[in-house]
Amino acid sequence: MRTVYVNGDYVPENEATISVFDRGFLFADAVYEVTSVLDGKLIDFPGHMARLSRSLGELDMAAPVSDDELLDIHRRLLSENDLVEGMIYLQVTRGAADRDFLFPEADTRPNLVLFTQEKSLIDSPLAERGQKVRSVDDLRWRRSDIKTTQLLYASWAKSRAHAGGADDVWLVRDGHVTEGSSNNAYIVTADGTIVTRHLSPEILSGITRQAVLQCARELQIKVEERPFTLDEVRGAREAFSTSASSFVSPVIEMDGMAIGDGEPGPVARRLREIYIEKSRAAAI
Ligand code: PDD
Repeated sequence: MRTVYVNGDYVPENEATISVFDRGFLFADAVYEVTSVLDGKLIDFPGHMARLSRSLGELDMAAPVSDDELLDIHRRLLSENDLVEGMIYLQVTRGAADRDFLFPEADTRPNLVLFTQEKSLIDSPLAERGQKVRSVDDLRWRRSDIKTTQLLYASWAKSRAHAGGADDVWLVRDGHVTEGSSNNAYIVTADGTIVTRHLSPEILSGITRQAVLQCARELQIKVEERPFTLDEVRGAREAFSTSASSFVSPVIEMDGMAIGDGEPGPVARRLREIYIEKSRAAAI
């Protein structure tokens, strides 16, 4: 059984408790981070903690503990669970208060929860085979730059696409792709340029995105950060997505139509290799 972290305690998962009045539970009034783990070490950890601070700040939520303490908690949880490969999930909620649309008093104690998830990240059948993706309207709120736990639309859309034989959805707003259900979206154009949507309140600033774009620039691949259409996806040489839980993952089909030759493309493969190599070397 897993050991999870709740507000200072490391407890077996079936003994962990949170109030039914928790605002994360009642209002999705909560932010989260997912950090990947390779060789028992944390990948891109400072980036995840910087984004957590930003999400908290945007919502006027207090940080429950310092960044140094967060690192200690992540490390202890990894060791308590002997986690070698997978993810650590962290969630901060505004805390428990009687149900009211007004935020509670500022001295309400935030709730902090972390747990580990074992997953084979390097050997990924989906990365080998490539993802089949469907397009759906992006009906999320327009502050997707804040990593909140309001994930129902993404979860619902992905589940419906999955029931229809696809692996994931790409979200489309005003005719342009914003991002994937839980990842950033990219195409590689006929001339070899990587195109991904520019940062704005409409997408999450992926920590993997930042690192992968850096890898691309080091490989002297041209990168354009701008909106792209579904037509461009269909006409692309290849496509892929990035996230902490999938690294770089090729996309081979959009709405039933093959992208490129319908196989994972060389740019996605190369970036996946390099990202894994570099982030492994820098893991803490
Ligand atoms: N999701 N866009 C969205 C909407 C996401 O939920 C995520 C991450 C990303 C990629 O961000 P990063 O590279 O920092 O993981 C982009 C996580 C993995 C999740 O919800 O499980």
